[in-house]
Amino acid sequence: MTSNPAAVTTRIVPPAVAHDLVRTVCDALGSDEREARLVADHLVAANLAGHDSHGVGMIPTYVGSAAAGGLVVNAELETVTDAGAVLVVDGVHGFGQAMAFDAMAVGIERAREYGLALVGLRNSHHVGRIGHWAEQCAAAGLISIHFVNVGGSLMVAPFGGSDARFSTNPFCVAFPRVGEPTILLDFATSAIAYGKARVAHNKGVEAPEGSLIDHEGRPTDDPSVLFDEPHGALRAMGLHKGGGLAIMCELLGGALTGGLTTREETAHDATSIYNSMTSILIDPNALGSLDSGAADAFLEWVKASPAPAGAEHGPLLPGEVERATRATRTRDGLPVDETTWRGIADAARAAGVPDDDTTLAAWNACAAA
Ligand SMILES: NC(=O)c1ccc[n+]([C@@H]2O[C@H](COP(=O)([O-])OP(=O)(O)OC[C@H]3O[C@@H](n4cnc5c(N)ncnc54)[C@H](O)[C@@H]3O)[C@@H](O)[C@H]2O)c1
Repeated sequence: MTSNPAAVTTRIVPPAVAHDLVRTVCDALGSDEREARLVADHLVAANLAGHDSHGVGMIPTYVGSAAAGGLVVNAELETVTDAGAVLVVDGVHGFGQAMAFDAMAVGIERAREYGLALVGLRNSHHVGRIGHWAEQCAAAGLISIHFVNVGGSLMVAPFGGSDARFSTNPFCVAFPRVGEPTILLDFATSAIAYGKARVAHNKGVEAPEGSLIDHEGRPTDDPSVLFDEPHGALRAMGLHKGGGLAIMCELLGGALTGGLTTREETAHDATSIYNSMTSILIDPNALGSLDSGAADAFLEWVKASPAPAGAEHGPLLPGEVERATRATRTRDGLPVDETTWRGIADAARAAGVPDDDTTLAAWNACAAA
């Protein structure tokens, strides 16, 4: 393991090259054109936002999951409960990028009609970066809150425990503003996202201090404890508060929707990832309170806090880092570490993409930084 990320070779991939290859891989897996495009839109957008853990690096997992029968291509949402403003749909292990998109589309319609909607999406395959779904709601002018679990995935130790009992259960809230960027808070409730440990492992670099424990519950910065026996675990973020939020994500995202929850009998390996998500969509116009300027005035007040001595900048608002990264990567391309870059090409071949495919050739031709 190197502790110098600069020593790791990185390929620079133009977003369009990544998008084309993802669509080719999905096509090889049997996805129709719409599904392939939704998956590619989502994964490339995650890389553009800086969340490589949920970007095109997921492709090997998706190919493996499809081969194992854990990911169903061209699935359609099944309605479980439809009570107007309250809706539960089953994602039947379909591509989460299509299942969540369709679930949010119905939720947006309902929130416009009733002022408020609760959408339970259960048993979808991996829905990826939750901020993407909040952005879909925000683009429609809606506030949204998302509680998500990863059913049957053992990765995170509860606060006060020493082995993995649940997963990285993400939480997300978005607050759109008129003429100003959306405030978008979106994170795993583990100290770091599992995918970030995977990226550190692939790069051969250490994980951030305090994010992992080994198989005996001792703190470690070695990401291999998640991938090699005997397994350690991720820590929950924020001590008892983050650990508590992770438990609420399991209860609201998993149990409330009737989705898969995590316990000994449901535990499975990481070949397939099953998310359930409870989303609450709010139409601010229904409350009539957003025109007062109070939100903007508060956010300006927060931003005006001076930078600490020696720091380059003062406070960043939720979503600011992703916006800045998106601007840079749209211009300069996506940095993809060599291990991930090769793994994606291998997965494409495993999915049946021939070596002379033009989108795979363009991927393979991406230069090192
Ligand atoms: N589908 C799943 O099963 C699953 C599971 C876990 C995580 N995820 C996704 O993984 C992604 C990454 O999660 P993460 O925990 O690594 O995110 P993270 O630790 O990078 O935190 C991101 C959040 O913190 C804000 N932020 C970052 N730096 C900041 C700073 N300096 N000042 C103020 N705010 C700052 C960002 O704007 C964003 O809202 C998320 O998009 C999440 O939805 C998905």
